[in-house]
Amino acid sequence: MVKRELDEVSGTETTGHEWDGIKELDNPMPRWWLWAFIISIVWGVIYMAAYPAWPLITEATKGFLGYSSRAELADTMNAVQVSRQKYINSINALSLEEIRNDSELARFAYAGGKSAFAVNCSQCHGSGAAGSAGYPNLNDDNWLWGGSLTDIQTTISHGIRFEQDDDTRFSEMPAFGGDEILDRTQIGQVADYVLSLSKRQHDFENATAGAKTYADNCAACHGDTGQGDREQGAPQLSNVLWLYGNEKADIIAQISRPKHGVMPAWGERLDATTIKQLTIYVHALGGGE
Ligand code: HEC
Ligand code: HEC
Repeated sequence: MVKRELDEVSGTETTGHEWDGIKELDNPMPRWWLWAFIISIVWGVIYMAAYPAWPLITEATKGFLGYSSRAELADTMNAVQVSRQKYINSINALSLEEIRNDSELARFAYAGGKSAFAVNCSQCHGSGAAGSAGYPNLNDDNWLWGGSLTDIQTTISHGIRFEQDDDTRFSEMPAFGGDEILDRTQIGQVADYVLSLSKRQHDFENATAGAKTYADNCAACHGDTGQGDREQGAPQLSNVLWLYGNEKADIIAQISRPKHGVMPAWGERLDATTIKQLTIYVHALGGGE
């Protein structure tokens, strides 16, 4: 072996490499570094034996611990399924009233209803169920067709004016203008009368003249004082909430050629558990009775 040159200052051997007169000393690796290096190699070998590591043709080596992330996922999913199933069974077995009175179950149903709502209902009712023109707000305590648990369940199951469902909720306001039941003057007068019911600004003389037209043509559905009728889905006219707008022109348009909201029936499309969860959710939104 060639005797290597010693560095004069430190007395350490040099590696023989030299750049511009600067020589590289051949110091040994620090001990701690060497050990860390060896331990990590040992660790790597054990790890490769214990866990799936070497890719083979169809799958990797299994490792002696038999671990697989797929199996772990399946286990977690199973555990969730089992705990959900307990709640789902209870929802199927209990009445809406009983579900609502069991706070834990009601919370589960609410969460399920909320996500089903986001998928099936929000495109019409809005993501927070606040509605928009023609689509009722479901957060308030003003109901067209009723706000009890069973009312809401019926509405969701059978829809509204959804002709494919024999039990759908149905009623239609006559087209007083289009079918010439009332003339334009009468429609203008009754519109002022409708405005007066909710104490909005109106023409007093017109409204007085419209009162009789209202009693003869409208009270049967909307009530003597505009309180509405849930049997027929006729909105209350004496409050500040309007499905189709609160301006006189909106009201005249509705009397002349009424719009009729249609909501699809969900009884065939969604399972009974989901409908119950939706009912609990809608009922809890604020205005459930
Ligand atoms: C295609 C649009 C549309 C979809 C989707 C829809 N709705 Fe409706 N919904 C309506 C309309 C329109 C009305 C009001 C009908 C009327 O004028 O009487 C309504 C009314 C209701 C009512 C009655 C409110 C009251 O005041 O009595 C409830 C409850 C309701 N919807 C719940 C739901 C739920 C829950 C879903 C999802 C499963 C849903 N809706 C999906 C259009 C829709
Ligand atoms: C056969 C029952 C019936 C009769 C009669 C009737 N309506 Fe209606 N009316 C309804 C229904 C149902 C609606 C709701 C339509 C919908 O939900 O899409 C409605 C809606 C309205 C609205 C819209 C309310 C809102 O919140 O935007 C007004 C205004 C109105 N009616 C006024 C009248 C007036 C005025 C008369 C008499 C000239 C009359 N209606 C007669 C059933 C009736």
